[in-house]
Amino acid sequence: MAVWSAPGKVFLFGEHAVVYGKPGIAMAIKPRVYVTVRKTRHPPRVKSPYLEKCFELMGVNGSVYIHSQLPSSSGLGSSAAVTVATLSAINDEYGLGHTKSDIASMAHSVEKSVQKGRASATDTYVSTFGGVLLIQGDIKRRLPPEDFHLVIGNTMVSHSTARMVEQVSKFRATDPDIVNPILDAIEAVTMRSLHVFQDQRALGRYMDINHELLEALGVGHPALTRLVTAARAAGAYGAKITGAGGGGSMVALCPKRSKSKIAGAIEGCDGRAIITTIDNEGARKE
Ligand code: MEV
Repeated sequence: MAVWSAPGKVFLFGEHAVVYGKPGIAMAIKPRVYVTVRKTRHPPRVKSPYLEKCFELMGVNGSVYIHSQLPSSSGLGSSAAVTVATLSAINDEYGLGHTKSDIASMAHSVEKSVQKGRASATDTYVSTFGGVLLIQGDIKRRLPPEDFHLVIGNTMVSHSTARMVEQVSKFRATDPDIVNPILDAIEAVTMRSLHVFQDQRALGRYMDINHELLEALGVGHPALTRLVTAARAAGAYGAKITGAGGGGSMVALCPKRSKSKIAGAIEGCDGRAIITTIDNEGARKE
């Protein structure tokens, strides 16, 4: 039996734009998914398409049990965490000898095939390695780990990443002269943020701008607007959609002393708050 876990993630900058080769900055967060894989001669049929693909790719059969601290379909990378932890556990249980880099790229191919479309490598890469990463296509750079205090607000409005990515792609096909400059502006905000990474007030301002640009891309939702506004009013340095939008979650960068107040403001607007910080480990054996 092998038990592995992998963390969820938030996008601090650049979601959607990364799908078009722009840079994005994502950070692994504390809540994790735990996966147990066991060799069995007659494994029960695996129901999730992600798990099915993981076993198919590894060329083995087995039973799998999942325990998750991450809400699914909430923009926090739970499907990537499940995929990374499952591949790692299969690799361990069957002694297949894959490296962490192999796991990250296999997890990306699982996500692409299940989501049947464009999926950046961000979620799977961050979940595998942990930390804060700047990702642009094949370039992945680890940024110095920052002790950011984050409050995540889950709207509890479930969304489909594949559908939101598709929606942006259609918008871009019909109105490239509107959408391309928005993607360029998201890229500019992401790159500028690298210059102020130690100045959380300035970073928060860039997160606010990134949020407005995501709204302009059409991936906002009234429930997200409510939580973002509440977090800012309660003292966040900045707040934005995180992940695909259209529901799902927002993230607020907070002064340490205000995180409980900000979490309370989110709960007061019918959101589920998660107070969290960086995870520096990525996938690990339990
Ligand atoms: C989803 O967490 C983020 C998107 O940019 C899609 C992707 O990166 O695959 C919307």
